Amino acid sequence: MSNRVPLAVLVSGGGTNLQSIIEATRDPKYSADVAVVISDRPGVKALDRAREAGLPTVVVDWSDYDDRGAFTNEVCDAAEDHGAEGLVLAGFMRILAPAAIDRFPGRIVNIHPALLPAFPGAHAVDDALAYGVTITGVTIHFVDEQVDHGPIIYQEALAVMPGEEREALQARIQAVEHRMFPVAIDALARGRLHIEGRMVRWEQA
Ligand code: GRF
Repeated sequence: MSNRVPLAVLVSGGGTNLQSIIEATRDPKYSADVAVVISDRPGVKALDRAREAGLPTVVVDWSDYDDRGAFTNEVCDAAEDHGAEGLVLAGFMRILAPAAIDRFPGRIVNIHPALLPAFPGAHAVDDALAYGVTITGVTIHFVDEQVDHGPIIYQEALAVMPGEEREALQARIQAVEHRMFPVAIDALARGRLHIEGRMVRWEQA
């Protein structure tokens, strides 16, 4: 337990990815721990999930801020106050200011429900369906100064079934997310992810 790397998980909504991370931490061999769950809004299911798991929670309410920098500093302070050494963006719907990258260099990861660089932004599943793509997927990546842009840690493609509804596609995307985000976070915590320019090299276990 003591060798585990403490991380802050940032959420805005349902928290199903948070749940998959919480469940992964139940394995004694897992290398990361959730030090704190930080939400940009009150009253979301993700906060309930955190409390049910006995994890500390902090709400840094976006609506209280008119400045992205001040909001970012508060989020980073809350993470550091709980001993977090990195940030995991798990359905976090806010863009952090570049100051976050200075404070957690190479230690901020995000999950995105499309194959970046296709369909960045907050409506990736809808955008992919509206475009009519027949392949979409999941991207796990480091966060850099641009939105949905940093070096790619892992991608997995999914075929879009003919006539598939949004809910069905999203469920299949989330199944991939819940399987792979904990794996990527474990690799990050073990120091096995090496950023080499745009590429991320996975060091063998
Ligand atoms: C996920 O699909 C993630 O890719 C996107 O937001 C969704 C969050 O879902 N960034 P949840 O809150 O983890 O259930």
